[in-house]
Amino acid sequence: MLIVGNQKTYLNKEEVLDFIEKTSSVDCSKVVICPSYIYIDLYKETSRYIVGAQNVSEKGNGATTGEISASQLASLGVDYSIVGHSERRDEQKEISENIYNKIVRLLENDIKPLFCIGEHLEEKKSGSTKDVIGKQILEVFDRLDSNMITNIVIAYEPIWAIGTGLTPTNDEIIETVQYIKDLIKDKYEIEIMVLYGGSVSRKNIDLLNEISIIDGYLIGGASIKPDEFLYIISTNE
Ligand code: PGA
Repeated sequence: MLIVGNQKTYLNKEEVLDFIEKTSSVDCSKVVICPSYIYIDLYKETSRYIVGAQNVSEKGNGATTGEISASQLASLGVDYSIVGHSERRDEQKEISENIYNKIVRLLENDIKPLFCIGEHLEEKKSGSTKDVIGKQILEVFDRLDSNMITNIVIAYEPIWAIGTGLTPTNDEIIETVQYIKDLIKDKYEIEIMVLYGGSVSRKNIDLLNEISIIDGYLIGGASIKPDEFLYIISTNE
């Protein structure tokens, strides 16, 4: 199981140091923590986490003020990067073209993309979840070679479940994740990991753990609370 913490921009430096201190008694060596760029070194220095980024530039090193390149991330020892998170799709208007460019940059630098896909509530209600996420996958994967696709981890995150306390039923998650895995297997003959994300918490982790088809979790809000995050990790050892 791959547990990924997406700490977004929740924490200031003191709070990051406090989080590191409070998680120091537990083995987090298989956990990926995705802090803000500015705290990557703090986590790397502990040598206790696998470290990921929350985003990456579409371009290589050069005249791109304010961006962080994949090569820069690699030079810090970053192993994963989130791409296509719904907060960026919605707020920064990122589309498949941007996400494709980022995935290529990451793979060129041996960083595994954590590729987020998911549907809005209206799309779920109108029964178009599979169409929406199928399109999100194919628009990117159709442009990649199979040896690139193999290195991608998908995070299925229903947008209406992110930060809301709402989650799909286990049966709904199973149906969607099965669809994702079948689509990729049928089209590209590749099996890749699929994580679930969206309001994963101490309260629902035992129920979610009953789903054997998912390969891990992408955790937002609960990844900044040391006790809750450690509890979730402990149920997946
Ligand atoms: P959440 O966020 O766990 O707070 O719902 C998940 C995410 O945005 O990746």
